[in-house]
Amino acid sequence: RDTHRLVIAVDGTSGSGKSSTSRGVAERLGLRYLDTGAMFRAMTWWLLREGVDVLDAAAVATAAGRPAIESGTDPSRPTITVDGVDVSVEIRSDEVTGAVSPVSAVPEVRARLLELQRAVIGDGGIVVEGRDIGSVVWPQAEVKVYLSADPDARAQRRAAEQGGSDVASTQQSLLERDRIDSGRATAPLTMAEGAVHVDSTHLTLDEVIDRIVSLASGTGAPG
Ligand code: DC
Repeated sequence: RDTHRLVIAVDGTSGSGKSSTSRGVAERLGLRYLDTGAMFRAMTWWLLREGVDVLDAAAVATAAGRPAIESGTDPSRPTITVDGVDVSVEIRSDEVTGAVSPVSAVPEVRARLLELQRAVIGDGGIVVEGRDIGSVVWPQAEVKVYLSADPDARAQRRAAEQGGSDVASTQQSLLERDRIDSGRATAPLTMAEGAVHVDSTHLTLDEVIDRIVSLASGTGAPG
């Protein structure tokens, strides 16, 4: 197996540390990085800007084909553009975060982004984070990780990331997204067949990265 063609799938709940972990693993192994959540956020940002009712699944389905969404794959500097405009900052707003789960449940949105995701993965050499990477997007990934953490730990980390938001309301928003993401009919968040469960509650970021790098080493990758 060509180790530079490795695909590492990192799925898990909101705030489990997927992004920091996936970027860290990609940097250590010299691989590219794709944040599929950012693609769903970019679609949601565009729908809101166009004035589409994000709770109207039929309207969302009709519009989903229109925006051009492009992801950069440098783990040290992730970027995402919609119709050529960089929206890396805008997609993290509370407004987008509050609307992204229902948008992600629309099958036409998933089909559109699935195509883009598979095109980016291409010949591999990439760490891909999301909810359905190991189960739907790339079931043949050499390494599949299901990352979780206790809700308290997730809310505390996320609130700190957001510059000291309220922990209780952050936790409520995380749990609400988990509920929608796990309960939807199309490609729900689930532990993929063959995935290794890593609970990050009591691990440091470096410990989680080490664990995944050593799983990748087991497949013959450098590091
Ligand atoms: O990882 P994140 O919080 O940025 O993801 C934002 C939303 O996108 C999440 O609530 C569910 C959705 N998502 C998805 O449905 N499938 C993916 N592969 C990645 C994200």
